[in-house]
Amino acid sequence: MRNAPIGIFDSGVGGLSVLREIERLLPDESLLYVADSGHVPYGEKSPDYIRQRSRAISEFLLEQGVKALVVACNTATAAAVADLRECFTVPVIGMEPAVKPAAAATRSGAVGVLATTGTLQSARFAALLDRFAGSVRVHTQPCPGLVELIEAGELAGPRVEQLLLGFSAPLVEAGCDTLILGCTHYPFVRPVLQTLVPEGVVIIDTGAAVARQVAARLGERDMLAQGPSRSARFWSSGEPEALERALPALWGGNAAVLRLSV
Ligand code: SIN
Repeated sequence: MRNAPIGIFDSGVGGLSVLREIERLLPDESLLYVADSGHVPYGEKSPDYIRQRSRAISEFLLEQGVKALVVACNTATAAAVADLRECFTVPVIGMEPAVKPAAAATRSGAVGVLATTGTLQSARFAALLDRFAGSVRVHTQPCPGLVELIEAGELAGPRVEQLLLGFSAPLVEAGCDTLILGCTHYPFVRPVLQTLVPEGVVIIDTGAAVARQVAARLGERDMLAQGPSRSARFWSSGEPEALERALPALWGGNAAVLRLSV
Protein backbone atom coordinates (compact mmCIF):
# COMPACT_ATOMS: atom_id res chain seq x y z
CA MET A 1 0.00 0.00 0.00
CA ARG A 2 2.90 2.38 0.72
CA ASN A 3 3.87 2.51 -2.93
CA ALA A 4 0.31 2.75 -4.21
CA PRO A 5 -0.40 5.97 -6.14
CA ILE A 6 -2.11 9.11 -4.89
CA GLY A 7 -5.26 10.06 -6.86
CA ILE A 8 -5.77 13.74 -7.68
CA PHE A 9 -8.71 15.25 -9.54
CA ASP A 10 -10.06 18.60 -10.65
CA SER A 11 -12.71 19.94 -13.01
CA GLY A 12 -9.91 20.42 -15.55
CA VAL A 13 -6.29 21.55 -15.62
CA GLY A 14 -6.34 23.61 -12.40
CA GLY A 15 -5.39 20.72 -10.15
CA LEU A 16 -2.07 20.47 -11.99
CA SER A 17 -1.00 23.43 -9.84
CA VAL A 18 -1.53 21.17 -6.80
CA LEU A 19 0.02 18.12 -8.46
CA ARG A 20 3.21 20.15 -9.04
CA GLU A 21 3.42 21.02 -5.34
CA ILE A 22 2.85 17.39 -4.32
CA GLU A 23 5.58 16.26 -6.73
CA ARG A 24 7.94 18.91 -5.35
CA LEU A 25 7.38 17.88 -1.73
CA LEU A 26 6.97 14.12 -2.25
CA PRO A 27 9.17 13.22 -5.23
CA ASP A 28 8.93 9.47 -4.60
CA GLU A 29 5.16 9.28 -4.93
CA SER A 30 3.30 7.96 -7.97
CA LEU A 31 0.46 10.24 -8.98
CA LEU A 32 -2.73 9.64 -10.96
CA TYR A 33 -4.49 12.76 -12.24
CA VAL A 34 -8.03 13.08 -13.59
CA ALA A 35 -9.16 16.24 -15.39
CA ASP A 36 -12.95 16.26 -15.64
CA SER A 37 -12.62 18.45 -18.73
CA GLY A 38 -15.79 17.06 -20.29
CA HIS A 39 -17.69 18.76 -17.45
CA VAL A 40 -15.61 21.90 -16.75
CA PRO A 41 -16.26 24.46 -15.32
CA TYR A 42 -17.67 23.31 -11.97
CA GLY A 43 -17.95 26.89 -10.67
CA GLU A 44 -21.53 27.57 -11.74
CA LYS A 45 -22.86 23.97 -11.46
CA SER A 46 -25.12 22.66 -8.71
CA PRO A 47 -23.58 21.05 -5.62
CA ASP A 48 -25.51 17.82 -6.40
CA TYR A 49 -24.02 17.60 -9.87
CA ILE A 50 -20.51 18.21 -8.54
CA ARG A 51 -21.02 15.57 -5.82
CA GLN A 52 -22.05 13.04 -8.49
CA ARG A 53 -19.01 13.79 -10.64
CA SER A 54 -16.64 13.75 -7.64
CA ARG A 55 -17.96 10.40 -6.48
CA ALA A 56 -17.72 8.81 -9.95
CA ILE A 57 -14.14 10.04 -10.43
CA SER A 58 -13.12 8.94 -6.92
CA GLU A 59 -14.55 5.46 -7.57
CA PHE A 60 -12.52 5.29 -10.77
CA LEU A 61 -9.32 6.34 -8.95
CA LEU A 62 -9.95 3.82 -6.18
CA GLU A 63 -10.36 1.10 -8.82
CA GLN A 64 -6.82 2.09 -9.96
CA GLY A 65 -5.65 1.34 -6.38
CA VAL A 66 -4.98 4.82 -4.97
CA LYS A 67 -4.05 5.11 -1.28
CA ALA A 68 -5.39 8.67 -0.92
CA LEU A 69 -7.59 11.13 -2.79
CA VAL A 70 -6.77 14.79 -3.31
CA VAL A 71 -9.73 16.94 -4.36
CA ALA A 72 -7.58 19.53 -6.16
CA CYS A 73 -10.52 21.84 -6.80
CA ASN A 74 -12.00 24.35 -4.36
CA THR A 75 -15.50 24.12 -5.81
CA ALA A 76 -15.54 20.30 -5.63
CA THR A 77 -14.13 20.40 -2.11
CA ALA A 78 -16.89 22.76 -1.00
CA ALA A 79 -19.59 20.58 -2.56
CA ALA A 80 -18.28 17.05 -2.13
CA VAL A 81 -15.44 16.50 0.34
CA ALA A 82 -17.75 15.58 3.24
CA ASP A 83 -19.62 13.11 1.04
CA LEU A 84 -16.36 11.51 -0.20
CA ARG A 85 -15.08 11.16 3.38
CA GLU A 86 -18.30 9.35 4.30
CA CYS A 87 -18.16 7.04 1.28
CA PHE A 88 -14.49 6.05 1.23
CA THR A 89 -12.00 4.93 3.85
CA VAL A 90 -8.80 6.31 2.25
CA PRO A 91 -7.64 9.77 3.38
CA VAL A 92 -9.44 12.49 1.39
CA ILE A 93 -7.59 15.82 1.30
CA GLY A 94 -9.38 18.90 -0.01
CA MET A 95 -8.64 22.52 -0.77
CA GLU A 96 -9.41 25.49 1.46
CA PRO A 97 -9.07 29.19 0.54
CA ALA A 98 -6.18 30.50 2.66
CA VAL A 99 -8.26 32.73 4.95
CA LYS A 100 -6.27 31.84 8.07
CA PRO A 101 -2.80 32.76 6.71
CA ALA A 102 -4.23 35.81 4.93
CA ALA A 103 -5.86 37.08 8.13
CA ALA A 104 -2.52 36.66 9.90
CA ALA A 105 -0.56 38.38 7.10
CA THR A 106 -2.70 41.45 6.32
CA ARG A 107 -1.46 44.82 7.53
CA SER A 108 -4.43 46.80 6.24
CA GLY A 109 -7.02 44.55 7.91
CA ALA A 110 -8.69 43.75 4.58
CA VAL A 111 -8.22 40.65 2.42
CA GLY A 112 -9.74 39.68 -0.91
CA VAL A 113 -10.80 36.22 -2.04
CA LEU A 114 -10.92 35.37 -5.75
CA ALA A 115 -12.88 32.16 -6.29
CA THR A 116 -15.81 30.61 -8.12
CA THR A 117 -19.40 31.41 -7.21
CA GLY A 118 -19.79 27.80 -6.03
CA THR A 119 -16.95 28.18 -3.53
CA LEU A 120 -17.97 31.62 -2.30
CA GLN A 121 -21.62 30.61 -1.78
CA SER A 122 -20.81 27.37 0.03
CA ALA A 123 -21.52 26.64 3.68
CA ARG A 124 -17.94 25.46 3.96
CA PHE A 125 -16.62 28.90 2.99
CA ALA A 126 -19.01 30.62 5.43
CA ALA A 127 -17.73 28.33 8.19
CA LEU A 128 -14.13 29.13 7.24
CA LEU A 129 -14.82 32.86 7.59
CA ASP A 130 -16.56 32.36 10.94
CA ARG A 131 -13.57 30.39 12.17
CA PHE A 132 -10.61 32.40 10.91
CA ALA A 133 -11.54 35.88 9.67
CA GLY A 134 -11.82 37.41 13.15
CA SER A 135 -11.86 41.20 12.85
CA VAL A 136 -10.37 41.15 9.33
CA ARG A 137 -12.67 42.44 6.56
CA VAL A 138 -13.01 39.80 3.84
CA HIS A 139 -14.07 40.94 0.36
CA THR A 140 -15.10 38.23 -2.08
CA GLN A 141 -14.87 38.30 -5.85
CA PRO A 142 -16.28 35.65 -8.22
CA CYS A 143 -14.29 35.35 -11.46
CA PRO A 144 -16.61 34.21 -14.28
CA GLY A 145 -14.81 33.40 -17.52
CA LEU A 146 -11.33 33.02 -16.03
CA VAL A 147 -11.35 29.22 -15.73
CA GLU A 148 -12.50 28.96 -19.35
CA LEU A 149 -9.53 31.05 -20.58
CA ILE A 150 -7.05 29.00 -18.55
CA GLU A 151 -8.60 25.77 -19.83
CA ALA A 152 -8.10 27.11 -23.36
CA GLY A 153 -4.39 27.62 -22.62
CA GLU A 154 -4.61 31.42 -22.40
CA LEU A 155 -2.41 32.26 -19.41
CA ALA A 156 -1.45 35.81 -20.47
CA GLY A 157 -2.41 38.48 -22.98
CA PRO A 158 -5.04 41.22 -23.21
CA ARG A 159 -8.11 39.09 -22.44
CA VAL A 160 -6.55 37.61 -19.29
CA GLU A 161 -5.30 41.04 -18.18
CA GLN A 162 -8.69 42.66 -18.73
CA LEU A 163 -10.50 40.01 -16.70
CA LEU A 164 -7.96 40.04 -13.88
CA LEU A 165 -7.98 43.83 -13.71
CA GLY A 166 -11.77 43.84 -13.49
CA PHE A 167 -11.69 41.29 -10.67
CA SER A 168 -8.79 42.71 -8.66
CA ALA A 169 -9.45 46.48 -8.93
CA PRO A 170 -12.48 46.50 -6.57
CA LEU A 171 -10.50 44.51 -4.01
CA VAL A 172 -7.55 46.88 -4.20
CA GLU A 173 -9.91 49.86 -3.95
CA ALA A 174 -11.45 48.31 -0.83
CA GLY A 175 -7.98 48.37 0.75
CA CYS A 176 -7.11 44.67 0.45
CA ASP A 177 -3.35 44.16 0.74
CA THR A 178 -3.63 40.37 0.62
CA LEU A 179 -5.38 38.41 -2.14
CA ILE A 180 -6.31 34.75 -1.80
CA LEU A 181 -6.43 32.55 -4.90
CA GLY A 182 -9.41 30.36 -4.02
CA CYS A 183 -9.40 28.25 -7.18
CA THR A 184 -6.63 25.89 -8.28
CA HIS A 185 -6.72 27.27 -11.84
CA TYR A 186 -5.71 30.78 -10.74
CA PRO A 187 -2.05 30.12 -9.80
CA PHE A 188 -1.40 29.75 -13.55
CA VAL A 189 -2.24 33.45 -14.06
CA ARG A 190 -0.66 34.64 -10.82
CA PRO A 191 2.33 36.25 -12.62
CA VAL A 192 -0.07 38.42 -14.65
CA LEU A 193 -2.17 39.29 -11.58
CA GLN A 194 0.96 40.33 -9.69
CA THR A 195 1.73 42.93 -12.39
CA LEU A 196 -1.79 44.41 -12.13
CA VAL A 197 -1.92 45.06 -8.38
CA PRO A 198 0.11 47.65 -6.45
CA GLU A 199 3.53 46.64 -5.20
CA GLY A 200 3.27 45.13 -1.75
CA VAL A 201 -0.03 43.33 -2.37
CA VAL A 202 0.58 39.74 -1.34
CA ILE A 203 -1.01 36.89 -3.32
CA ILE A 204 -1.55 33.60 -1.49
CA ASP A 205 -2.51 30.20 -2.85
CA THR A 206 -2.85 26.91 -1.05
CA GLY A 207 -1.13 24.36 -3.30
CA ALA A 208 1.98 24.01 -1.13
CA ALA A 209 -0.08 23.83 2.09
CA VAL A 210 -2.21 21.06 0.59
CA ALA A 211 0.93 19.14 -0.39
CA ARG A 212 2.07 19.40 3.25
CA GLN A 213 -1.33 18.09 4.35
CA VAL A 214 -0.97 15.12 2.00
CA ALA A 215 2.47 14.39 3.47
CA ALA A 216 1.13 14.67 7.03
CA ARG A 217 -1.92 12.48 6.43
CA LEU A 218 0.13 9.75 4.73
CA GLY A 219 2.95 10.06 7.26
CA GLU A 220 0.66 9.57 10.24
CA ARG A 221 -0.62 6.33 8.64
CA ASP A 222 2.90 5.18 7.71
CA MET A 223 1.88 5.27 4.06
CA LEU A 224 4.55 7.48 2.46
CA ALA A 225 6.23 5.82 -0.56
CA GLN A 226 9.55 4.16 0.05
CA GLY A 227 12.17 4.32 -2.68
CA PRO A 228 11.92 6.16 -5.96
CA SER A 229 8.77 4.86 -7.64
CA ARG A 230 7.81 8.27 -9.02
CA SER A 231 5.48 8.40 -11.99
CA ALA A 232 2.49 10.40 -13.16
CA ARG A 233 -0.45 9.18 -15.26
CA PHE A 234 -3.26 11.30 -16.66
CA TRP A 235 -6.89 10.89 -17.71
CA SER A 236 -9.36 13.37 -19.14
CA SER A 237 -13.13 13.11 -19.56
CA GLY A 238 -12.81 15.69 -22.37
CA GLU A 239 -10.39 15.64 -25.29
CA PRO A 240 -7.24 13.79 -24.15
CA GLU A 241 -5.25 15.65 -26.84
CA ALA A 242 -6.16 19.01 -25.27
CA LEU A 243 -4.69 17.95 -21.93
CA GLU A 244 -1.64 16.50 -23.71
CA ARG A 245 -1.08 19.89 -25.34
CA ALA A 246 -1.51 21.71 -21.99
CA LEU A 247 0.87 19.53 -19.96
CA PRO A 248 4.22 21.04 -21.04
CA ALA A 249 3.16 24.56 -19.94
CA LEU A 250 1.17 23.61 -16.84
CA TRP A 251 3.07 20.57 -15.59
CA GLY A 252 6.45 20.90 -17.24
CA GLY A 253 6.56 17.62 -19.15
CA ASN A 254 4.94 15.48 -21.81
CA ALA A 255 2.74 12.47 -21.15
CA ALA A 256 0.09 10.44 -22.90
CA VAL A 257 -3.43 11.14 -21.65
CA LEU A 258 -6.12 8.43 -21.56
CA ARG A 259 -9.82 9.04 -22.07
CA LEU A 260 -11.95 8.71 -18.95
CA SER A 261 -15.48 7.58 -19.67
CA VAL A 262 -17.20 7.75 -16.26
C1 SIN B 1 -14.15 25.49 -11.96
O1 SIN B 1 -14.21 24.39 -12.55
O2 SIN B 1 -15.06 26.33 -12.12
C2 SIN B 1 -13.01 25.81 -11.05
C3 SIN B 1 -12.89 24.85 -9.98
C4 SIN B 1 -12.16 25.34 -8.72
O3 SIN B 1 -12.80 25.93 -7.85
O4 SIN B 1 -10.95 25.09 -8.56
